Amino acid sequence: MRVPPNLADPRAMGTPVDWVSLRPELDGIPGEGFNLAWSAIERHARGPRSAQTALRFVARDGKRRTLTYVELARAVRRCAGAFRRLGVRKGDTVFLLLPRCPELFTAAFGALECGALVAPLFSAFGPEPIRTRLELGRGKILVTAAALHARKVKPIAGSLRELAHVIVVEDERIPLPPGTLGFASLLARESEEFAIERTQPQDPALLHFTSGTTGKPKGAVHVHGAALMHWLSGKYALDLHPDDVFWCTADPGWVTGTSYGILAPLLIGVTSVVDEGEFDAERWYRILAEEGVTVWYTAPTAIRMLMKAGPAAARAHDLTRLRFVASVGEPLNPEAVWWGQEVLGLPIHDNYWQTETGGIVIANVPALDIKPGSMGQPLPGIEAFVVKRGRDGAVEHLEGPDVQGELALRAGWPSMFRAYLGEEERYEKCFAGELYLTGDLVRRDADGYFWFVGRADDVIKSAGHLIGPFEVESALLEHPAVAEAAVIGKPDPLAGELVKAFVSLKDSVLPSQELRAELLAFARKRLGPAVAPKELDFRPSLPRTRSGKLMRRLLRARELGLPEGDLSTLENSPPL
Ligand code: WT7
Repeated sequence: MRVPPNLADPRAMGTPVDWVSLRPELDGIPGEGFNLAWSAIERHARGPRSAQTALRFVARDGKRRTLTYVELARAVRRCAGAFRRLGVRKGDTVFLLLPRCPELFTAAFGALECGALVAPLFSAFGPEPIRTRLELGRGKILVTAAALHARKVKPIAGSLRELAHVIVVEDERIPLPPGTLGFASLLARESEEFAIERTQPQDPALLHFTSGTTGKPKGAVHVHGAALMHWLSGKYALDLHPDDVFWCTADPGWVTGTSYGILAPLLIGVTSVVDEGEFDAERWYRILAEEGVTVWYTAPTAIRMLMKAGPAAARAHDLTRLRFVASVGEPLNPEAVWWGQEVLGLPIHDNYWQTETGGIVIANVPALDIKPGSMGQPLPGIEAFVVKRGRDGAVEHLEGPDVQGELALRAGWPSMFRAYLGEEERYEKCFAGELYLTGDLVRRDADGYFWFVGRADDVIKSAGHLIGPFEVESALLEHPAVAEAAVIGKPDPLAGELVKAFVSLKDSVLPSQELRAELLAFARKRLGPAVAPKELDFRPSLPRTRSGKLMRRLLRARELGLPEGDLSTLENSPPL
């Protein structure tokens, strides 16, 4: 089914938005106050969408559980009551370490209704990264699952002085661990009435930890008013209409899984599919077909894995309900855009944002022609610039088309982060006057499309040329033998750095000297000798963060025999 896009006129991209005048679209709390939980749940539960399915969970065995807006609202009020009874007050932090289950949603909104900050953690983290984050975020309550408790929480709970209660989602196969409280039994004692905390748009609501690919984790704080950006970007960049069935494949332990797996779809009032299982090409195609997904938001890693599984897997399923596909998280190689067109019958729309931006800021929206390989254009309400940071901290605007520089955004969109928890200086360093500096290198073409070049710290400087690893990786990926490619700069006495590639091959292909020579020649032909890799090694797989980003830093450290640094976000088998 084709529907007219929410953003019909692409000339609106990048134009100013009066955010305050949009607030009534999300209904503040009657009387006074603005709260994400009110806008995402209560207002639907009390309106014409109350009986619509808000969430449809697909269990590992394929069984479905659904929650309507009004059912979700009732559970959330009970949960808020339970948190309040346990002493949760405005400004406290509630951590969630849960799989993709109904209680995750109930607990997130329950905390928001109390005016607390919600801090979701990825359930595949081990005890140490969990401890660090709970400590940094001064978690007062941790909600977790029985199956996760013994391995991940028990070893650390005693050392966290601020942690007042551990609440465990009961599991009939596992006795409730001593010293914890049962989630369902707490909720059963509460009534379905709760007076939502009358928070204001500027009050903190969410705490997201980001370590990117380097350094110690930072806790990015977002406010209730961010809802406006989740809502607007959900409408424009994901083209969500209230009758859509939406599937965001990201785990809510990551910001994508919160902003677009929990918040945006409910703010808009759609039905959201939540897969409790793990990636499997057959399973994913089945979910798309059987759940009748109309809008799908996923990531390049997943798309590459589907590409690897081959087109026959897709063709066995009826994907005709699908009408819009978007991707985020790392560069979407042109190859993947074409694959979408061929196999899904739809091109894949890349979009760009960061934990710090809280929501999508640059996107290929449906009304805009896709330029494969480009992230698209700034959404309405986002002013984006290409700049160069001077040594003295001053920032120079690079006006011309096709000039490479750092992406900067004019501060003021509603989902912009408001702090790195407890690290004021690190926060201030992200800004130059009115501009937020993203740390990403981009170029803007003459038509106003932005192209990702690389993280500022991944960029290679070889013989005076700045080389973005993505461009080189994309060229290698066009070779039929290549499954994944990562490119680093390796110190070289002559060139400063030389380009070195790491490649993993498709299942049926074996590494050989001939293939190495062929790939190097292939890249040279596409990229020219100044940009093409000079060295190439084969690897069975490439290191990625748990959210799917290539860890070029780790490849580089291993190549050069340097310390490997913080590996808490490293994943061997890429999850989504
Ligand atoms: C970094 C942010 C994606 C939001 C959730 C993860 C890279 C993101 C793209 C894209 C190329 C992208 C950037 C950015 N990135 N989207 N479409 N093309 N690179 O947020 O973990 O804070 O990561 O992901 O480098 O800064 P995050």
